[in-house]
Amino acid sequence: MRSGRSVFEAFRGRSPERSAKTQRHRRVLALLVPLLLLLSACASDAPQDTLEPEGPIARKIDNLVNPVFIIAAVVFVLVEFGALYLVLKFRQRKDDDPDELPGQTHGNTKLEIGWTVLPALLLGFVSFATLATLFDINDTEDDLTVQVTGQQWWWEFTYDTDGDGEFTDEDLVTANDLVVPAGQNVGLEITSRDVIHSFWIPKLNGKKDAVPGRTHPLTINADEPGTYVGQCTEYCGLSHAYMRQRVVALPPDEFEAWLEDQQDEADEPTDEQAATGADLFAGQCSVCHLARGINDDQFEDGGDGTAQLVSEIAPDLTHFASRGAFAGATFDLWADQDGDHIVEADEIGADNGGQLNTGDLEAWLRDPPAEKPMDPVTPDEVEAGEQGRGMPNLNLSEEQIDQLVAFLQTLE
Ligand code: CUA
Repeated sequence: MRSGRSVFEAFRGRSPERSAKTQRHRRVLALLVPLLLLLSACASDAPQDTLEPEGPIARKIDNLVNPVFIIAAVVFVLVEFGALYLVLKFRQRKDDDPDELPGQTHGNTKLEIGWTVLPALLLGFVSFATLATLFDINDTEDDLTVQVTGQQWWWEFTYDTDGDGEFTDEDLVTANDLVVPAGQNVGLEITSRDVIHSFWIPKLNGKKDAVPGRTHPLTINADEPGTYVGQCTEYCGLSHAYMRQRVVALPPDEFEAWLEDQQDEADEPTDEQAATGADLFAGQCSVCHLARGINDDQFEDGGDGTAQLVSEIAPDLTHFASRGAFAGATFDLWADQDGDHIVEADEIGADNGGQLNTGDLEAWLRDPPAEKPMDPVTPDEVEAGEQGRGMPNLNLSEEQIDQLVAFLQTLE
């Protein structure tokens, strides 16, 4: 039988010299890849660094990870060095008889008890600490509950604003930015409308799957006001990598004000260009997007009553311009003025001195599937009951795009 390598070479049709070169390349690559991985671990100021918790729940996980990591590291180093030492010490030497075995330790009761008991003790400690942490982080009193719904490829957030203990279309519905009060336990009820997604804000807690037909609880708590980013961590189709989410933690009084503002309907724009944009929105975008106060009539007319009021197809845009990101938080909606790669609350809104990221917004309106992999159907097909995923190219003119951008800016 031919050896593995020669079969491989025959398959690839490589000459021996070529293959020596390839081998050298492979060796360099084998060195480079781990080196690059190691270097990438050195990134400072990484916004999704789970080892730098910024809330009490994430800190409990970190307090578990650190000792377990140290134990694992010590065991790893001892085992690797031990193995290396034994391999070198007992290697076959030139004058060794290949049939002679080194001295065997089989039947050494003391050693065998030792290497059974020691790992058992270590694992016992690790599982005890893990269970204690699990019970601890699941035993939280929530100050507020928000429903989190995953969908290809964005996150929807529903606040029980009418206080009936249920999440319905009478409640406040937003997308992309999960706004919460800092320093409070925010209970999330995580679910999905289509496939399995996973919600994860590394600095605030572990991840939790979003499964259709099920509700999974997760509590987050941020020490300080700030913006905490995360992304879907369960492969969910074309734009899985572009399904991001942001938690915007505000001081509690600002959060209350935000919650009040968000329940208002959108104002009819007064500016002429924006007003034309609003008409265009009602005509072109109503099949999927709702902006309360602008096109709710089309939603109520369009279907079987209340269920249609929340689009369930596309993000509610009533307060679009109050968010820091759009299109599944793939793109910044406002300019990141301090250059830390995260659009914070104080960079959002023209009144705040914010600058709208018109470049990405216009590009998105021009041809959404070119900006983010999606599988959309046209508005006509949506009306005919066909299901697609994502926003189609509406073939808007540059003038129409300007009008829509002018209108979307007014949705604060
Ligand atoms: Cu949603 Cu991956």
